[in-house]
Amino acid sequence: MKHFFVLIKRKIRSFFGYTGGYSKDNKQTYFEIPELGIRGRRPGTDLVTRLQGMDFLLGRAKGYSVLDAGCAEGLIAREFYRHGAVCVHGLDLQDVSVTTAQKLFLQEPNGAYYFGQADLLKWDETVTTNTHLLPSYDIVLLLSVYGHIVRKDRNAADSALAALASMTRRFFAVRSTAVIPENLILEKGFDIVYRDPAPDANELIVFGRTH
Ligand SMILES: C[S@@+](CC[C@H](N)C(=O)[O-])C[C@H]1O[C@@H](n2cnc3c(N)ncnc32)[C@H](O)[C@@H]1O
Repeated sequence: MKHFFVLIKRKIRSFFGYTGGYSKDNKQTYFEIPELGIRGRRPGTDLVTRLQGMDFLLGRAKGYSVLDAGCAEGLIAREFYRHGAVCVHGLDLQDVSVTTAQKLFLQEPNGAYYFGQADLLKWDETVTTNTHLLPSYDIVLLLSVYGHIVRKDRNAADSALAALASMTRRFFAVRSTAVIPENLILEKGFDIVYRDPAPDANELIVFGRTH
């Protein structure tokens, strides 16, 4: 019976074009940003929660380039920058997130950063419109995004996942509510080097490049 209601709810949502909570024009930011007086979309969007399990990577960020795919307002990207990353790039579907991230980074001294609007489900367009993107990054993050995009289009989500893995030189970190097709990443020359159950923020898996 419960499954029946879940199915009906999904059908109604898809009929009205529900996008899993994210659309290009949503004016609400994701993160709670006390310094800008922004409350965040829902509980759990504070940085402490969102950074659970990230110490493994933050401790290795010095001197590295970082791409955060689905970066929201760039607060996690900023932590990497503050831990010594030399170049931090971020992509997000929502314009408001991208402009807020740019505003936040203006306050960082000498920041080598770029934030751009992109729909990861349209990977070719993402690459052609974001001309500042580098061919590869030392660290690539896909945190709490795969679950959203795979619900909309599994093939396109897996293409984005594979493309992001291919442009990773050292560490590819994926956090997801949905099961991650690990083999898709492992076969691109990675081993799993770290797992963190992060109870409040879903499991984090870090893939390290072996070849
Ligand atoms: C749950 S938030 C996660 C934010 C951040 N990565 C974190 O871990 O705290 C999901 C983010 O993915 C973005 N997003 C959702 N669908 C996307 C898509 N198709 N392309 C790019 N970004 C997307 C949303 O706008 C949102 O900022």
